[in-house]
Amino acid sequence: MSGNNVILITGAGGFLGSLLARALQTDPQTPNVRLILVDVIEPKAPSGSNAVTIKANLTNPEEVDAIFQTEYGVPDTVYCLHGIMSRGSEDNFDFGVKVNIDSVRTVLDAARKYGAKAGHVIKFIFTSSLAVYGGPLPDVIEPNTIATPQGAYGMGKLIDEIFINEYTRRGFVDGRILRLPTIVVRAGAPSAAASSFISGIIREPLQGLPSTCPIGTSPSSPDLDLPLWVASPETTIANFLHARRIPADAFFPHTRVVCLPGFTTTVREEIAALAAVAGPEAAALISFGDDETNRRVVSSWPARFDNTYALALGFDVDEGGMVPIVRRFREQLRAGVV
Ligand SMILES: NC(=O)c1ccc[n+]([C@@H]2O[C@H](COP(=O)([O-])OP(=O)(O)OC[C@H]3O[C@@H](n4cnc5c(N)ncnc54)[C@H](O)[C@@H]3O)[C@@H](O)[C@H]2O)c1
Ligand SMILES: *[C@@H]1O[C@H](CO)[C@@H](O)[C@H](O)[C@H]1NC(C)=O
Repeated sequence: MSGNNVILITGAGGFLGSLLARALQTDPQTPNVRLILVDVIEPKAPSGSNAVTIKANLTNPEEVDAIFQTEYGVPDTVYCLHGIMSRGSEDNFDFGVKVNIDSVRTVLDAARKYGAKAGHVIKFIFTSSLAVYGGPLPDVIEPNTIATPQGAYGMGKLIDEIFINEYTRRGFVDGRILRLPTIVVRAGAPSAAASSFISGIIREPLQGLPSTCPIGTSPSSPDLDLPLWVASPETTIANFLHARRIPADAFFPHTRVVCLPGFTTTVREEIAALAAVAGPEAAALISFGDDETNRRVVSSWPARFDNTYALALGFDVDEGGMVPIVRRFREQLRAGVV
């Protein structure tokens, strides 16, 4: 049903790309999978896999061509995950356009060309973001809510989406566009992203390290009720796998955009979940340093979506709020897998 199980991942060295590679490698529904892992930083193959790993800078069209010409042949699916994140593309506009728009178009055109050569339509699974939304928004985002981005990152994602939808309509690729919530807990080092603290206030204290919350001035500050739209990495990766299996005719006829399911939490609930799992001493490692800019950026993001369409397509949603997510991340830290 899903083709030859040759799967190409761009951005495979990143947070979600490396989790996706690992999940596909061990997925019983994707037998004999052959992964082509591409990133500008040498990607790591999951242990025990025979993945092809390619270090390529996808802003160069010749390097994009090469990733479709490996010993594994033309993939049946491309997961297009590479990019530079919100802060990077905001601070360096021209470079953001080059990576987040131009290079995505180059990959999309190569998928069209090599799919046609091989005689199949490549599934093109693209990670978009809630950053496509901005300006005045309804309380709950519905599938027909108009996206009016207020930043370079969201603008780039929306342009990519429009191309992928049109390429799909023309039968050049079989697009599946996933608008992700903020993924929490993100493993690894803190980043400069405005959203970094959403994971940082859990990740660092669980390791006995201090963390600064840029929202609010104290643990009792009303600002901590700031709502956030989030999903766990595990549920999101399961949804990435599912996206490849959905029959094309199950989507709305006019768009392949799906807002992946998430749930609403708040900064206060996050801290309460941390305290419930790791004790008040962990929560005490969070200090408050209200950062007006950061608060404004994060407050502008929508925090409530209608999950109905995504659930009807068979996508999954986290159950039980933040506590199970914090508990699972602590187990992963202890097992040394994050
Ligand atoms: N993590 C989240 O909360 C979140 C939320 C919404 C959307 N997304 C989207 O999901 C995707 C993956 O996110 P992530 O958190 O894993 O990001 P990440 O920054 O960890 O990974 C992105 C990868 O892209 C690679 N890359 C950048 N420029 C490249 C180039 N020119 N050529 C080749 N590779 C290049 C980077 O080296 C990096 O490894 C991105 O498209 C992101 O916009 C993520
Ligand atoms: C990728 O190539 C572009 C030029 O197209 C360059 O500006 C950028 O620095 C390169 N990125 C890396 C990580 O080498």
